[in-house]
Amino acid sequence: ARRVRVHHLRELKQRGEPWPMLTAYDMFTAKIFDEAGIPVLLVGDSAANTVFGYSSSLPVSVEELMPLVRAVTRSVSKALVVADLPFGSYQISPEQALTTAVRFMKDGQAHAVKLEGGRRFAPHVEAITAAGVPVMGHIGFTPQSEHNLGGYRVQGRGDAAEDLVADALALQEAGAFAVVLEMVPAEVAKRITAELVIPTVGIGAGPDCDAQVLVWQDMAGMNQGKAPRFVKRYADLAGALSRAAGQFAAEVRGGEFPGPEHVFH
Ligand code: KIV
Ligand code: NA
Repeated sequence: ARRVRVHHLRELKQRGEPWPMLTAYDMFTAKIFDEAGIPVLLVGDSAANTVFGYSSSLPVSVEELMPLVRAVTRSVSKALVVADLPFGSYQISPEQALTTAVRFMKDGQAHAVKLEGGRRFAPHVEAITAAGVPVMGHIGFTPQSEHNLGGYRVQGRGDAAEDLVADALALQEAGAFAVVLEMVPAEVAKRITAELVIPTVGIGAGPDCDAQVLVWQDMAGMNQGKAPRFVKRYADLAGALSRAAGQFAAEVRGGEFPGPEHVFH
C-alpha cells in the first residue's frame, strides 16, 4: 500500500472525489482508521478535550501532544499524519512556528502540521513550508481563539465572508496544502472551495468542501455529551463499552469470571 502524499489530495480535488479525515490519538484507533482507508489522520489539539480532559484546547502543550503524535505515526502504513500545533507554540513568530513544526516532524515523525489562523499567519505558514514541511491551515471558527470569537459560533456570515475568502487565498499563497473550514456557512465554504486549487476540509461547513473531518470520539459515539449540529454518530461505542464493563463487573462479583478456559495450572 502506498503512502498518501499531499499531491494525492490535490488530485482527488481535481477529480471531484471527496475524502474523509479523522482525528486519532493512539495506536489502536490509528491502525483501525488507516486500515479502513482514511487517508489523512489528524492528531488534533482536540486531544485537550478528548484525551486529557481539559475543558478547552488552550491548556494542552507540545509535551503532552508529542507522544500521541509518535504513537499515531508509528501505527499507520498509508495515512498522512498531521500534527496540530497547540496554542502558544506558534503564534509568537514565524520562527517559533518553524521551531515547533520541526519538533513535531523530528520527535513526532509527523508528515505535516496544522495551525489556526488566516492572513496574519501567512508568514508562519510560509516559514514552515519553506523548510519543507507541509502545512494545513484552519480558518472559520478556530477553537484556540474562542475567547476572542465569543464562544462556539458560526464564522463568515454576511460581510465576514470576504475576510474568510481572503484568509483562505492568503494561506494557499503562503504554501498551505489544504485548509480546514470550521463552522462556516455552506455557501461560503462552497465559494472558497471553488476559488482554491488546494483542498478544503470541512467541519460544520456543508457538503461542498473537498474533504470532511470529524473528531473520532464524536463520529463513533464515544462522547456521550450533547454533540454540535455538524456531528453525525456512526456507532455507539460509549454504550458498547459501558455494557462490556458492566458485564465484566457482574461476572467478577458473581464468580463467573474467570472460567476454566481462562486459567493456567
Ligand atoms: O483539533 C482538532 O480535532 C481539529 C479538527 C476538528 C479540525 O482541529
Ligand atoms: Na485543532
